[in-house]
Amino acid sequence: MTSLANHLSDLLGAAFTALDLPAPLGQVQASGRPDLAPFQCNGALAAAKIAKRAPREIAQAIADAIKEHPSITQVSIAGPGFLNLEPSQAAYTAQAAALAGDERCGASQTPTPQKVIIDFGGPNVAKPMHVGHLRSSVIGDALQRLARFAGHKVTSDIHLGDWGLQMGHLITELEDEQPDLPYFDAAATGPWPTEPPVTLDDLARLYPQAATNAKADEGRMLRSRKATAALQAGRAGYLALLHHFIAVSRAGLEKDFDALGVHFDLWKGESDVHHLIPAMIEGFTARHVAEKSDGALVIHIARDDDKKKQPPLILLSSEGSALYGTTDLATILDRKNTIGPDHTLYVVDQRQGQHFEQVFRAADKAGLAPQTSLEHIGFGTVNGTDGKPFKTREGGVMRLSDLLAMAKTAARARMAEAGIGEGMDEAALGDIARKVGLAAIKFADLRNQRMTNYVFDLERFTAFEGKTGPYLLYAAVRIKSVLRKAEAQGLTPGTITPKSAEEKALILALDGFDAACIGALSKRAPHILCEHVFELAQAFSRFYAACPILPEKDEAMRASRLALAALTLRQLECALGLLGLEAPERM
Ligand code: ARG
Repeated sequence: MTSLANHLSDLLGAAFTALDLPAPLGQVQASGRPDLAPFQCNGALAAAKIAKRAPREIAQAIADAIKEHPSITQVSIAGPGFLNLEPSQAAYTAQAAALAGDERCGASQTPTPQKVIIDFGGPNVAKPMHVGHLRSSVIGDALQRLARFAGHKVTSDIHLGDWGLQMGHLITELEDEQPDLPYFDAAATGPWPTEPPVTLDDLARLYPQAATNAKADEGRMLRSRKATAALQAGRAGYLALLHHFIAVSRAGLEKDFDALGVHFDLWKGESDVHHLIPAMIEGFTARHVAEKSDGALVIHIARDDDKKKQPPLILLSSEGSALYGTTDLATILDRKNTIGPDHTLYVVDQRQGQHFEQVFRAADKAGLAPQTSLEHIGFGTVNGTDGKPFKTREGGVMRLSDLLAMAKTAARARMAEAGIGEGMDEAALGDIARKVGLAAIKFADLRNQRMTNYVFDLERFTAFEGKTGPYLLYAAVRIKSVLRKAEAQGLTPGTITPKSAEEKALILALDGFDAACIGALSKRAPHILCEHVFELAQAFSRFYAACPILPEKDEAMRASRLALAALTLRQLECALGLLGLEAPERM
């Protein structure tokens, strides 16, 4: 279906064409002065330059050409030649019918579906997740949902960090604690015990322990480095340990991501491509893409027109270890072979911008993928209310499960304050508080422009007033309750025939869904969809305050409003779903 703005654009485009002017001048947009008219077209100003005529004169000619059209009830010319447009009653009615009849609630599908990989989440095995991983997960998930909804073929990949120094740290620290385990015998080739030698808590303890020890003692650090190199060279006991570490870590992560409502198609990691690295590097060297530099093997990626210095990507360290950029390149190669993506998005902290610039240039230079097909979707940092990077109350890095529990508790407190959920049993309340807490955290993140930093403030995030997740869930729940009551009274929705300004404004808000989805995906900017959902909820609020539904005596009017409420709920839930939010049935 076509939005009203697009429909009017077509109409005005034809009027411009009839004056021998380019059709795109007829582009109609939501008005900057909605108090004057809901839509405007500024094309007459640009047309004046082309036609060398006065802009108001052209505006007048366009107005004359369209004013009798059944979709338009009023055209006026403002200022130097802006056209203000008021759609007709028939246009509103037709648009409402189209939206109500559209199972996608007005959102179009892409005419050019692509194979897209979204690389996000990116937690590291054994290292605790931090708020940057949470942001990546929430933003990446919204983008994967938006891209799928638009009709792209999406593959999401968590890309676990499991091939770096942290593995050498874990191996050596475990060896210090349990030297008798079979994995440390350099000559052993297995078979290995199927029971993992560590628990999740062990991993959480061993890694920071090793990292602290290595920081204080160079010899200790060297052991970790050597173990990492031996692992990468294929030492059997170490590989067996690696697989245990990954499995134990993954079981914990799966629980966390389930609780967050975020799912990945692939649970691959850096280590999954290690077998591709030797041949890849050999090829790079043979083709002179890679070269030796101070004992390391590097790819030079600097270009003559660079404004700032671009250091080379290091493929192999002087110890012969593969680094972060090496596994990223091998992963691009693996994805090319197994999926063949048109486009790959990396949703990762903006502070890794330099790394991705190196990887993308190197991939391009090596012929793995054109640089234009690889895109880093960066984001800003999350600070605490003290203005410093966010930490838990104890000052450590947060665990996702703790964070979600905190959000649930805060949501529960806010619900009690607002008198929400009174009289419900404990289990129902807990489930609602979980959904509210999750919505609070996700929406608070997504509503910001990606690159801006924001302050983590659960008090503010969980408020039921203002631009928050809980406010939006509450808006959806309120409509559900109206619809339930209507059903109980045997009332059925009918044809939407908007009469009041509030009804028309709500239809216009609904009609903005398509543009919001397109904008949010094409600009990788979920906040555009957040803005839409918030405006929709507000437009519904104003409609509901001005236009009684259940008490309305006129049957057709009541059925119309009921249908409008049902349509609003459907789109609201669809849009919330794209952001990864879920509204409860009741509150
Ligand atoms: N594990 C990395 C980190 O914690 C993020 C991985 C991002 N994805 C990638 N393909 N490099 O910083």
